[in-house]
Amino acid sequence: MCGIIGYIGKERCQDVLINGLKSLEYRGYDSAGIAYVTQGKLFITKEQGKINNLENLVKKTKSSLGIGHTRWATHGIPNKINSHPHKQGKITIVHNGIIENYDTLKKDLLQLGYEFTSETDTEVAAALLDKLYKETNNIEKAIVLFQKEIKGAYAIGLIVDDDYEHLYALKKASPLIIGLGDNENYIASDVPAIIQYTSKYVTLNDGEFAKISKNDIVYYRSDAKEIKKKVNIFDNDEASCGKNGYPHFMLKEIYEEPETFKNTVYPYIENGSTSLLEKMPDFSKYDKIIITGCGSAMHAGLVGKSLIEECANMPVLVEIASEFRYKKLFIDDKTLVIAISQSGETADTLAAVNIAKEKGADTLGIINRKDSSIARATKYVLYTKAGMEIAVATTKAYLAQVSILSLIALNIAMKNKQIMDSEIQEIFENMKKLPVQIDALLSNQNESIIKNIAHKLYNHDHIFFIGRNIDYALCMEGSLKLKEISYIHSDAYPAGELKHGTISLIEKDTPVIAVVTDEKIADKTISNIKEVKSRGASVTLLTNDLLDKDYDCTDYKIIVPNVHKLLEPIIAIIPLQLLAYYVAILRGCDIDQPKNLAKSVTVE
Ligand code: AGP
Repeated sequence: MCGIIGYIGKERCQDVLINGLKSLEYRGYDSAGIAYVTQGKLFITKEQGKINNLENLVKKTKSSLGIGHTRWATHGIPNKINSHPHKQGKITIVHNGIIENYDTLKKDLLQLGYEFTSETDTEVAAALLDKLYKETNNIEKAIVLFQKEIKGAYAIGLIVDDDYEHLYALKKASPLIIGLGDNENYIASDVPAIIQYTSKYVTLNDGEFAKISKNDIVYYRSDAKEIKKKVNIFDNDEASCGKNGYPHFMLKEIYEEPETFKNTVYPYIENGSTSLLEKMPDFSKYDKIIITGCGSAMHAGLVGKSLIEECANMPVLVEIASEFRYKKLFIDDKTLVIAISQSGETADTLAAVNIAKEKGADTLGIINRKDSSIARATKYVLYTKAGMEIAVATTKAYLAQVSILSLIALNIAMKNKQIMDSEIQEIFENMKKLPVQIDALLSNQNESIIKNIAHKLYNHDHIFFIGRNIDYALCMEGSLKLKEISYIHSDAYPAGELKHGTISLIEKDTPVIAVVTDEKIADKTISNIKEVKSRGASVTLLTNDLLDKDYDCTDYKIIVPNVHKLLEPIIAIIPLQLLAYYVAILRGCDIDQPKNLAKSVTVE
């Protein structure tokens, strides 16, 4: 949520800030701003809307120090006044996160004579820093006191009027990296903002802060004691942040799914069963698993639940991370809590991990971003290897999450002796073929079937998804994808539940997308399809080539290959992702940056 960038060094500050903000736009895109120093003076330019609007306003000038911000509004509407940077006295800041006690702080600061023009918590943070700086006449001391007074989450880039030779960075519970260049240095919320300039970076732990000049960086602990930090190098997969000729990141990322599957899964099966058993934690210590996450990550968890329960005979609960903390969950040291998150920064998921740890559970993260907060908070981490995912709607990262969950199910099934050796071999063979099968599914022919269905759907106001068990979990993800980017109201229902209420919404031509990939319950779902069909629904059936029969209750069909049940949900989600994409295209939507959303949700 919100992207920040900062630069100190050569006279190209404005370009670095604007380019950086463009690549952070996926984190929030309702307004943006930059502060830069030129000829000893600080200037601030802000604008509502996307970075292009801001770029058009910026007066080109040479500058070697500045900070920038792209916003996803939390406190105050998305307008120019509320957008960052915010300046109070001698302090100018950009901020990602939420200051929880800003109201109390604001009352105290108002009494001291501070005036506020915006509704933001960030302007309060700037005023508090200014007050502390005035009291101490030392910015490091002011930061130490500030961090003690502030409650909540923040990554802050800061410029002090008395010292245009330095840029400051501090953080707690919001992501921030420091990029190291040659006579120039950077701060950023995420890799894409600086990858074109440097491959070296340092991450700050919560409470740590940094004083950055163009050729030196001093790192401090929260009490201002100097510390040394390890310099890291970006992975190659983090380096690929362009669209590679695709019209949208989402489409590019869907087409990267075969590679994502290979990169995520193959390291676990390179030596057959041995590597799968050795490269994962010992699940036999636990008598239950609780999976948590938000949105698509939670949907991946629902698929994982089905796979682990069905194939490995181990009980799994799935809890939405934002509900986790408010529920009485029965967690103890025999519980494994699995937190799923692409970004590794989702605030609710991180909070759930911390609660699980307090209650004595072991924690495992299924995470796409190295060094992210959740990756650091969990006891074990299994990384998904999806590379950078830029489109707000997740596709390849979701596929990678489900892939890891199917490996976990297989690992537990092997340890529990729930599966015969011959079946294990069959799964490994299937895994080797799957990338080619996904490629074939993404071929022109299948794409045109999906485009054709998209044409039938795109001007409807309501679309229903139905399925049972694991197919219902797929429906939930298909439905989320569709509503998220096309803005069509869509709901997923367990197919058997329809006649307990929802079927009253079905009328002539109401689009219903039915998912039938699980042989055990196929007949039951087909009966439910007949129920909606006889009430006039227009039915699209997503099934596999084993279950595809001459049904007389469907209008359109999408067929995926029949693969082992541990892998079926991996291949079956792809047509639903493509369908959402093409429906949204026909409706002229902003595919990669849907309204009101942001890629990583770092507020609770
Ligand atoms: C799905 O397309 C989403 N944009 C959203 O539901 C996402 O999966 C969720 O916010 C969780 O994000 P995370 O994986 O980074 O934790």
